[in-house]
Amino acid sequence: MISKYSDQKKVIKEDEIQEAALEIKKGNLVLFPTETVYGIGANALDEDAVKKIFVAKGRAQDNPLIVHIANIKMIEDIVMDIGTLERKLMTKFWPGPLTIILKRKSKEIIPNIVTANLDTVGIRMPSNRIAQKLIETAGVPIAAPSANVSGKPSGTKVEDIITELDGKVEYILDGGFTDIGLESTVIKVEGNKINILRPGKITKEQLEEVAQDVKIDKHVLAKVEKNEIVTSPGMKYRHYAPNTKSIMIYSQEKEKMIEKINEVIRKMQQENKKVLVVGRESNLQSYQTKRKWNMGETLEEVAKNIFTLLRKVDKEQVDLVVLEGVGEQGLGLAITNRLIRACAYNYIII
Ligand code: TXA
Ligand code: MG
Repeated sequence: MISKYSDQKKVIKEDEIQEAALEIKKGNLVLFPTETVYGIGANALDEDAVKKIFVAKGRAQDNPLIVHIANIKMIEDIVMDIGTLERKLMTKFWPGPLTIILKRKSKEIIPNIVTANLDTVGIRMPSNRIAQKLIETAGVPIAAPSANVSGKPSGTKVEDIITELDGKVEYILDGGFTDIGLESTVIKVEGNKINILRPGKITKEQLEEVAQDVKIDKHVLAKVEKNEIVTSPGMKYRHYAPNTKSIMIYSQEKEKMIEKINEVIRKMQQENKKVLVVGRESNLQSYQTKRKWNMGETLEEVAKNIFTLLRKVDKEQVDLVVLEGVGEQGLGLAITNRLIRACAYNYIII
């Protein structure tokens, strides 16, 4: 059953949660909102149900899923050896957009398919009320990747993903546009260090309030070379990329960035090629092209809008998409991580 969906819809009725939770218990898939992006959820304890997620997304079997919990009790059967620093992180950032990679307890409880045979499991307690109620009502942890076909940007509203996921999930809970718009920060504690495997809304600066030593994994910004070992399997895969050729251009000096982007536009126009610029609201008037899209002004706005915009660019039928970079401060790191993947590591930083 698919409940009605629309851009505005935010209120989910209690009986819709009940129906969705029943589908989870039956071993079916439910599309549900979190504060970051939508997830495609299945009972994390049911191997056959989790298999359906991999089929629906066309996801590689070696890419593990995050297990979503509604309360701290749910974690006890799943993981072991929770350290002091990990507990501090849970207290400070849960519920919220932080995924912590922990040592898994028993292969009997969480099936291997969820963790791609690793001895760790990523756990997250979402703060979105619909997600929390769904997990609570189902009474089981929910394994869920971002709602998108593998390679595409994650879904931040139902209408963006309905076509590609139609018929692949049993139930859709429409909570409207997700608040944050980028996936959770994924971290792993190593001794007294925190390693950021995927940046997100919980920033390096915020993590530094809990631990002195916070490092950004090399592959957050660098491309994974052939046969290189990665700390998180998701780093290896093409992600967020439109089919249209794209480039990210950034300079700390705004004028320099604008000049460079205009130079690229001019060159393309000389070859009779069309360019679309996706940039900050206050910069758009400076670009010498008809085609320009507003990505928002604050980093929060850019984070929220970027996946929806990336999903639309192919429809514009241009020869090149220029994405303005936003730098690496605060939430900027997470946005930059998504942008450089969106343009398949084709970027200029000056
Ligand atoms: O905000 C989010 O995290 C969303 C919502 C739905 O919760 N979920 C999400 O899941 O983004 P997914 O599957 O699209 O991304 C999970 C990432 C992948 O890159 C995966 O490789 C990594 O987390 N991951 C999961 N378990 C891991 C583990 N045990 N060790 C290392 N990386 C892991
Ligand atoms: Mg994903």
